Amino acid sequence: DNYTGLYRPQIHFSPPQEFMNDPNGLHKDAKGTYHLYYQYNPTGLVAGNQHWGHATSKDLYHWENQPIAIYPPTSDSQVFSGSAVIDSNNTSGFFPNQTDGVVAIYTLNSASAEVQEIAYSHDGGYSFTRYDGNPVIDVNSTQFRDPKVIWHEKTQRWVMVVSHAQDFVIAFYTSPDLKAWTLVSNFSHQGLLGSQWECPNLVPMPVRDVASGELIEHQDMYVLAISVNPGAPLGGSATQYFPGTFNGTTFTAIDRTVRLTDFAKDNYAGQFFYGILDDEDPISIAWASNWQYAEEVPTAQEGWRSAMSVPRRNFLANTPSTGWVLVSRPHDLRPVLGQVLVEKEWRAEGGISNASILTESGAVHLNVAVSGLLGSIPATSSLEIVLSTSDSQESLSCGYSFSDNTFFLDRGNTRGFQDPTFTSNFSTSVFPREDGTWTMSAVVDRSIIEVFLNEGVASATSVFFATQPLTSISISTAGLPSGATTKVELRALESVW
Ligand code: FRU
Repeated sequence: DNYTGLYRPQIHFSPPQEFMNDPNGLHKDAKGTYHLYYQYNPTGLVAGNQHWGHATSKDLYHWENQPIAIYPPTSDSQVFSGSAVIDSNNTSGFFPNQTDGVVAIYTLNSASAEVQEIAYSHDGGYSFTRYDGNPVIDVNSTQFRDPKVIWHEKTQRWVMVVSHAQDFVIAFYTSPDLKAWTLVSNFSHQGLLGSQWECPNLVPMPVRDVASGELIEHQDMYVLAISVNPGAPLGGSATQYFPGTFNGTTFTAIDRTVRLTDFAKDNYAGQFFYGILDDEDPISIAWASNWQYAEEVPTAQEGWRSAMSVPRRNFLANTPSTGWVLVSRPHDLRPVLGQVLVEKEWRAEGGISNASILTESGAVHLNVAVSGLLGSIPATSSLEIVLSTSDSQESLSCGYSFSDNTFFLDRGNTRGFQDPTFTSNFSTSVFPREDGTWTMSAVVDRSIIEVFLNEGVASATSVFFATQPLTSISISTAGLPSGATTKVELRALESVW
């Protein structure tokens, strides 16, 4: 496979060629291998002819491309999004002689209907056989899709969430065997509606103290995530989530607040891995694009379109400045961290001017920590970061105002892609923590940047297309009080391809 090219991410997953969208069937098997399936058109650079592409990894960064896992049964149908589980107790009856059987639950799309089907794998998720009793759910609808299944320990049943996309209804079904499904409740018309609801996820979510990372016991919280497209606040697609409780049949949101997973435009259809142990935090991967321009982006000249986000570790927190929030940060980056390129610390005003970020991969990791933000902060206090091309004609920038507590990310000064929907400036409000510290980190990987504020209390995923590589970085602080210290560490990221 050819993973070279100006735009080709080096630590993010992207398909070997052609068009990719949603992550599907994410699971970790008993041998510790992570499986990533994805919406894949093997014959084109736009969506259509959907299959399940497949890749596997031991560390969630080094992926090995595998043969296509699920094919549409007929030329006029498509295998749409869905999930996968390991049926270790053989509830389905498909696996009399093994404990590592995998069942995929997906939508079969055709012009006349969207129905839910299952397929089983005897070889650990590499090849699948369609169940001959399909469909397992058919409600005579053309807008009914994206089943996500989890095992509910207390009731000893499978639970599926699946979307009536244009009715803004997430249906909850339960099953003893993955074949017979009973409708047990509906979650509808809450939060952001947009034009369609897609790719629901229900996941038990630990609650932690953000600063110490400590688990807050006996919380028994869940997150229901729902992707909205079109009609997101920034245009096109976005994912919202509801913290709440789930009693085996009904999900109850904790409040009526609208919460989004991301403050930029390229984080959609995220899915949580099945098979992550109870004492680990849930891991997710999202599609790093937006339906407004996913089929237009210039990576087509390199023969591929769309990348996934980095794998994220997630938990819920409830902080004074954010209320209930889904904290999302990169899963352990150590497998890809390379040498330190820049390390610097300064008091009050200072910075780094045009430091080289030339790495073999073209990918870097940035850490910025500001401390001593106590007392009153001058109105002009700010941090600015600019990544530039060698001729300084194009750049990607971000920054933070310590006085009005706004963070921005701007991809506007790049020339590789013009489209009215490819809007450039994203911002969010985020506050220094009670101990006077404020942090950000970023993964910059050729054509994709992911930013994490205060260790993932807020995050942004954004693709960008400069016509040349970004080769230098400038970081500066201005107007900070004399007691404030800024510490910067920039490291190379090593290509996984
Ligand atoms: C979300 C989505 C899903 C559907 C799939 C088709 O991006 O529209 O609702 O199953 O993509 O590729």
